[in-house]
Amino acid sequence: MSSLKYYLAQVERIFNEEQFIFEPHELYEPIDYTLHLGGKRIRPTLLLAANALFGGDEGQVRDAALGIETFHNFTLLHDDLMDRSPLRRGQPTVYTKWDENTAVLSGDTMYALAWRYFLRQPSQRLQVILQCFNETAIEVCEGQQKDMNFEHMTLEEVSIDDYMDMIRQKTAVLLAGALKIGSLYAGAPDDETERLYRFGIHTGLAFQLQDDLLDGYGDTAVFGKKTGQDIRDNKKSFLPLLACSIGSASQKQELMSIFAAKDNMDEEEKVRRVMAIYDTLALRQAVEKAIDDEFHTAIRLLDDIHADDAKKAPLRELLESLQGRKK
Ligand code: IPE
Ligand code: IPE
Ligand code: MG
Ligand code: MG
Ligand code: MG
Repeated sequence: MSSLKYYLAQVERIFNEEQFIFEPHELYEPIDYTLHLGGKRIRPTLLLAANALFGGDEGQVRDAALGIETFHNFTLLHDDLMDRSPLRRGQPTVYTKWDENTAVLSGDTMYALAWRYFLRQPSQRLQVILQCFNETAIEVCEGQQKDMNFEHMTLEEVSIDDYMDMIRQKTAVLLAGALKIGSLYAGAPDDETERLYRFGIHTGLAFQLQDDLLDGYGDTAVFGKKTGQDIRDNKKSFLPLLACSIGSASQKQELMSIFAAKDNMDEEEKVRRVMAIYDTLALRQAVEKAIDDEFHTAIRLLDDIHADDAKKAPLRELLESLQGRKK
């Protein structure tokens, strides 16, 4: 029976076999750079494991795995530009290594390449698969827009429910969509596909809460991204929102005023002051508890899926490997 390690190796093999350099090389070099920088490859791994869970043919989902990861990497090129992030996977982001126009156009090309990969492999279910991919892509963009809208709103104007809905769209639907697509290729029953999708949503919510936590408490050398960026960007991530809900009136007031003083405070001073409030509130532990709750919901949903336990094992292993991740 296949393990998580097996699927990760399959994904690596698929990426190593594919050529990403074409002409003009100014367009394709950043694509090749990004797709060979590694990353955790979670989404294609989910897709392959979901397909196998329902007895699908592995050869049939090779290009879909390539497509979903290429789409994810496209979102990163644009996201790093939008968030002004200097580092990704421990390396300079495309817009800093090249320039902004390159991040836009190479990113656009990756989105189109994702479609090419999906379309390259015939399947009698391709129509519904592409519908799922397309709806997922639209939701990711909607989530990204909400994330940016929140930058211009006060901490009081964004509720935790608004935030959870935003991360469901910007992050969770892609993990859930990868699972659903894998399951659709295998011809799984609709109700099981739906259960798997919900498992993906809660895994994705936990995953983004962790990302927010690591943005504050991660180690840049391991996380591969510059920490404190959410604070510099005035993001209404889970950390300040939870801090406002558990802090005293005066702590909330102080956070509100620091986040409001976006343009006239030294950025590093802003990061230091916000982190000091988080520490006083033991925010890290509170966020870890919320992450655990989401992971537990995900595990329960996986338990409810009617499939061979041995075939669920790679998905359980993936959840375990994500719990307590440092990057
Ligand atoms: C980063 O995704 C974007 C988020 C949704 C937080 P990953 O953390 O999966 O990025 P890579 O592909 O492993 O670098
Ligand atoms: C990323 O959210 C979501 C997408 C890329 C769609 P973040 O902006 O928090 O991701 P990182 O932290 O830059 O990877
Ligand atoms: Mg970002
Ligand atoms: Mg972002
Ligand atoms: Mg982040």
